[in-house]
Amino acid sequence: MAAPATPALAMVTGASSGIGKSFAEVLASRGTDLVLVARSRERLEELATTLRERHGRSVDVLVADLEKPEELALVEQRLHEDARIDLLINNAGYGFAGSFAELPLERSLGQIGCNITALTRLTHAALSTMKPSRRGGIMNIASTAAFLPTPYFSVYAATKSYVVTFSLALSEEIKAHGVTITVVCPGFTRTEFQSRADYDASAMPGFVWQSAEDVVKESLAAYGAGQTLCVPGLPNRVTTALTGLLPKSLLVSLIGRFTQPPKG
Ligand SMILES: NC(=O)c1ccc[n+]([C@@H]2O[C@H](COP(=O)([O-])OP(=O)(O)OC[C@H]3O[C@@H](n4cnc5c(N)ncnc54)[C@H](OP(=O)(O)O)[C@@H]3O)[C@@H](O)[C@H]2O)c1
Repeated sequence: MAAPATPALAMVTGASSGIGKSFAEVLASRGTDLVLVARSRERLEELATTLRERHGRSVDVLVADLEKPEELALVEQRLHEDARIDLLINNAGYGFAGSFAELPLERSLGQIGCNITALTRLTHAALSTMKPSRRGGIMNIASTAAFLPTPYFSVYAATKSYVVTFSLALSEEIKAHGVTITVVCPGFTRTEFQSRADYDASAMPGFVWQSAEDVVKESLAAYGAGQTLCVPGLPNRVTTALTGLLPKSLLVSLIGRFTQPPKG
């Protein structure tokens, strides 16, 4: 089943920077109106102004911290009430590098709140209008870390495993109702992700990195083709396929040789 080639109105979470911002830019350039969600009002307003001027699209800004139940509820409400939204991109997400036992528990619970709880609640809210109208789709942004139990990034990798498993199972449930679910697993992408995560990726060779725009274009092509799982970038597809052949216990000890506790 193919999703609509040009969505009429897309909600993008985490649209203030990186991959989410790039989704907003590419979609607006293709004629899609937008609802942009994140915490940074100034960044969202600036992006909205640029996209209105450059592409003549209608762009709404919804400032919300998706980890705060009352603010998340406002975003859910918009999805319940606005049946024109025919694409939801659950992109907001982050990780923290560090030893699970030593990081403040709130940092781990925050990742679960944003990467899992908010994504699940917003998916449910979007389906309340998409399923009865038999139109639209949802793109959930996971990570190649979903396939790699990663020491010192354990909670983040686990949240992304949830996103993949949930999305694939849901796509099977919902496909007979005319709604498309696509889960995207980017690898190393040049955004603010690594600095926010306190994760030093400087040793990673240049060929593994993608731009946010390349990730977005591959993701939208996969979504348009009705693909349920998209791993953007050939190096990421090869690594994911090869690591998938290894027993999990061997895989985690191999990854453990390359991951280090952060200094300091
Ligand atoms: N970059 C990579 O290497 C990479 C690899 C694999 C997967 N990913 C995934 O790609 C997605 C986008 O990340 P990115 O690389 O574009 O990183 P980014 O540049 O740091 O962007 C993250 C976005 O999420 C928003 N966000 C974070 N916490 C939020 C919260 N509590 N409530 C609302 N919005 C929140 C941020 O906005 P505010 O700060 O304004 O709220 C920002 O717009 C994430 O799900 C990430 O896990 C990234």
